[in-house]
Amino acid sequence: MNAAILHNPDGLYVHVPFCDGKCPYCAFYSVPFTPDGEADWLRAVLAELACERAEWPELSPATIYFGGGTPSLLSGDVWLRLSEALHAAFDLAAVTEWTVEANPGSLTTERLALWKGLGVNRISLGAQSFDDGVLRRLGRRHTVAQVCAAVEAIGAAGFENWGLDLIACVPGVGPARWAATLDAALALRPRHISVYALTVEEGAQLAKERAAGRFALLSDGRQLARLALAEKRMGEAGFARYEISNYALPGFECRHNLAVWRGGDYLGMGPAAASHRGGRRWTNHADLCAYVSAPLPPRESEISSVEGQALDRLIFGLRTAEGVGMSELEMRYELPTLSRWRCTLEQLAKVGVVVEANGVWRLTRRGREVADGVAVELMG
Ligand SMILES: C[S@@+](CC[C@H](N)C(=O)[O-])C[C@H]1O[C@@H](n2cnc3c(N)ncnc32)[C@H](O)[C@@H]1O
Ligand code: SF4
Repeated sequence: MNAAILHNPDGLYVHVPFCDGKCPYCAFYSVPFTPDGEADWLRAVLAELACERAEWPELSPATIYFGGGTPSLLSGDVWLRLSEALHAAFDLAAVTEWTVEANPGSLTTERLALWKGLGVNRISLGAQSFDDGVLRRLGRRHTVAQVCAAVEAIGAAGFENWGLDLIACVPGVGPARWAATLDAALALRPRHISVYALTVEEGAQLAKERAAGRFALLSDGRQLARLALAEKRMGEAGFARYEISNYALPGFECRHNLAVWRGGDYLGMGPAAASHRGGRRWTNHADLCAYVSAPLPPRESEISSVEGQALDRLIFGLRTAEGVGMSELEMRYELPTLSRWRCTLEQLAKVGVVVEANGVWRLTRRGREVADGVAVELMG
């Protein structure tokens, strides 16, 4: 067996569940920031870290990712304690990428300098739009001027690897207005841009608005047109669409997410954080009170079958530009069902949604538009 194919570097994820308000479209777990909540959360994360350290003595993470929520809201002292604890728990010598998600309204030059000193080397900034009217409609609590100031501060602090999140397909935003946001984002010269089509998530305020008839998404055709425009503008600027929602300049792909999509192991900590180790997955309950009161985080655990793991790898792999090789699946999972998936892929290739080259399968341009349907066919 080829060890290089079988081994993916490990990742560490920390979920910071605090925000300065709730965006109506967002269903990620978060609560309003308070200093007491932050102190309780820190104590519980440190306890979870100590416990997981004993469970994962071999963990040698190659990537660290602080997401949320809004990690940029955490105080300097908390960052120092977290960094100290991570170094004490794990050997971080192999870490090549340490990402922190930041919001434009809470990113300060002091925080950036502190992160730089700790070894953070990648910033993901939630810009969402370069149109103040759209930011207001999205319920964001920052302005375009604050996004630009944050980007300037990121550069001044010496971060080379940084990216922006944008939300596409906002109702009422026509092609010209969307193109203006794309151009404004590209003009800042980020290395990475995530483009997410606005979705209505169960539990988010937008779902209630939709149920009450006060909100409707763009038609499928308009959504596809906005996403195609993004792909065109990004391509012209030298960005590769290395995953359905992610664009990067060469060498600036997010290594942490790539390892997750390649089926690697990762340890997640904090309420709502997910972890994956071999065939086992678990997710801490999305409940800060429960997380800080129980001796061990309450969580849901699931052991996936080898077939389930292989299917996940296939579906996530197809969504990436690098695709997924049948020989990798064969070696890694030794499954008889592969021939069934091969048949399905061959049928899907006939209708132009997947393509195979040198044994590697990936979605075509049309396939990226109907990726969920491709997944359903493979699961069937
Ligand atoms: C984990 S969230 C939080 C990042 C950070 N707190 C922020 O707001 O900038 C990561 C990204 O998911 C995207 N997102 C969250 N909910 C979404 C939705 N319903 N539709 C489209 N994009 C969404 C946003 O672009 C956001 O920046
Ligand atoms: S999008 Fe970001 S800031 Fe808004 S609620 Fe979600 S996590 Fe918080």
